[in-house]
Amino acid sequence: MASFLRASSGLRSMTGRAVPARSSFKYTSVRSLASSSSTESSFLADEPVAPKVVTAIPGPKAQEHIAELNKVFDTRSLNMLANYQKSYGNYISDPDGNILLDVYAQIASIPVGYNNPALIEAAKSDQMISALINRPALGNFPSHDWASILETGILRVAPKGLDQVFTAMAGSDANETAYKAAFMWKKQQERGGPDVDFTEQELTSAMKNQKPGAPDLSIMSFKSGFHGRLFGSLSTTRSKPIHKLDIPAFDWPQCSFPNLRYPLEEHVEENAAEEKRCLEEAEHLIKTYHNPVAAVVIEPIQSEGGDNHASPAFFRGLREITRRNNVLLIVDEVQTGVGATGKFWAHDHWNLQDPPDIVTFSKKAQTAGFYFGNPALRPNKAYRQFNTWMGDPARAIIFRAIINEIERLNLVEHTAKVGNYLYGEIERLAKQYPEQFQNLRGKGQGTYIAFDNPKRDEFLLKAKTFGINIGGCGPSAVRLRPMLIFQKHHADILLDGFENLAKSL
Ligand SMILES: Cc1ncc(COP(=O)(O)O)c(C=O)c1O
Repeated sequence: MASFLRASSGLRSMTGRAVPARSSFKYTSVRSLASSSSTESSFLADEPVAPKVVTAIPGPKAQEHIAELNKVFDTRSLNMLANYQKSYGNYISDPDGNILLDVYAQIASIPVGYNNPALIEAAKSDQMISALINRPALGNFPSHDWASILETGILRVAPKGLDQVFTAMAGSDANETAYKAAFMWKKQQERGGPDVDFTEQELTSAMKNQKPGAPDLSIMSFKSGFHGRLFGSLSTTRSKPIHKLDIPAFDWPQCSFPNLRYPLEEHVEENAAEEKRCLEEAEHLIKTYHNPVAAVVIEPIQSEGGDNHASPAFFRGLREITRRNNVLLIVDEVQTGVGATGKFWAHDHWNLQDPPDIVTFSKKAQTAGFYFGNPALRPNKAYRQFNTWMGDPARAIIFRAIINEIERLNLVEHTAKVGNYLYGEIERLAKQYPEQFQNLRGKGQGTYIAFDNPKRDEFLLKAKTFGINIGGCGPSAVRLRPMLIFQKHHADILLDGFENLAKSL
């Protein structure tokens, strides 16, 4: 039975704003009663049966920790202070004993649950201990078992057609190194191949950040896209000005991303025309932009920018345009990758005949990097694509354990099914409360579901009082990012929470 004790005193918002106190209460809804009679057991035995909210969040203990932390670490972006030792499976705990169903999951980054026993086992292995305490500078001193760690882990789930990897440390890093690979590939082509040496002029001008050594090439991205916050990746990020202000940026083109209307079935022609318009704009920019385009980067679902979708036909069109114009297609699967869309890689939904040139990953992989297939994307000389760590074997070992767990529990297929259930139920709620669940999107995309809410920030904040940790994106979207071990009985708890939120807003 999903029973929740709601907060009995005031709540602090993400921005420190207090939200009104409510009195404690328990409730049982029809849906939770129905699910209580089901026999579904959790993938992780001993998972809490329901959320528990016993204080305001943050409660008194959390507030003490926050005050202590704030002396040495900026806490203005703090959402919730957690106790990870006490978190388990789909549930995140805090120091005051609150336990929330977590469908935000560290910004879409926890695949198989907090304190997953299989990951704990992997963490205790001799191989992991060695990787942690003898961290290698991978480019110079890879370990004897690095090839095997890659082949049995990261490369085992490589997207179709891509059989090599450059490992990195975060999503932004993965994208930046992919962009560098694209630039070096482009110049190598122009120069006449890998064996043609650099000119003296290239060598000297590069040291002055000038042409021709530092050329005016560009990466094209899409409006509202998000690709990270390092210098190069930030230049391709177009989601919010606050990410970009005061930071020098490259003069690179941005293309319109389709602005689809929902429900999709009712706007077929209009949406097709919108996608055609964006594809025409993409080709025009590629052909005419004053800084020649070496690669196009795109998310399968624009995530930070508001969970904006486009059709498989749009992406196939973009693949065709990039190929025709000798420009690389980089698919940024940092957020969409690793199962949440009901396929291991979201671009598997597109039925491409011709794979992307590069696919970047991080978040739920817990490690990062980019996959590629064309050997020409390895630069022609050593040290052109290099840094000290070049990734982290300890994190690669964890990704391997995650992959094993995904396979053992068939979590990708599972997520497709539970996502269909969840989508159908939210669709039902949307009919009942149309104002609260607008532009529902993510049908057939596993649990990668979102909707717009006019009081989104209040919705997110109040959700905690109903025992749910959930995030937003873009101007008004509520985004669902549950873990891959999210099951129907968790969906029922979430749906009860949604219904209560809808009634209370
Ligand atoms: C699609 C996408 N690309 C890149 C990034 C950047 O990843 P990181 O924050 O690990 O640098 C993010 C982060 O949210 C993302 O969603």
